[in-house]
Amino acid sequence: MKTLKTLLLLSGLTAAIALIQGCYYDNEEYLYPVTASCDTTGVTYSGTVAPIMAANCNGCHGSTAPSAGIVTDNLASVKANMARIWGSVNHQGGYQAMPKNMAKLSDCNLAKIGAWKNAGMPDN
Ligand code: HEC
Repeated sequence: MKTLKTLLLLSGLTAAIALIQGCYYDNEEYLYPVTASCDTTGVTYSGTVAPIMAANCNGCHGSTAPSAGIVTDNLASVKANMARIWGSVNHQGGYQAMPKNMAKLSDCNLAKIGAWKNAGMPDN
């Protein structure tokens, strides 16, 4: 009897662990599916695009000694370089993939930059 109880307890525990692990997704795409939760309305330069650049680009593309001469920390430069920036962050052929040596920007952040770009890159 004792062995049976131990066995039952062990298999119960195993099942519980398997269930917990099976349900645990910390992958951004599972937690925040782009279609369901990426809100691209109300995207602005100062509130959306500038913070993305600050977090992912300005370390190498600040106004002082910018890599490849591309400055990402002010509106005028971002507008002037958007064609190359867009190609790079989307990993398009013919462009260096950015951010360099780091994960591609999330689909949602790319969608937000795209929405701002399509709106004519307003100073907002
Ligand atoms: C770790 C440093 C680093 C980070 C972070 C980084 N870059 Fe770059 N970037 C470079 C370097 C260095 C180059 C020159 C080309 C090369 O060596 O790949 C470059 C080149 C570029 C170019 C020119 C590429 C071309 O093919 O015309 C663009 C545009 C660019 N980066 C945009 C960005 C943007 C936008 C981000 C943020 C999403 C970013 N970079 C993040 C270092 C970086």
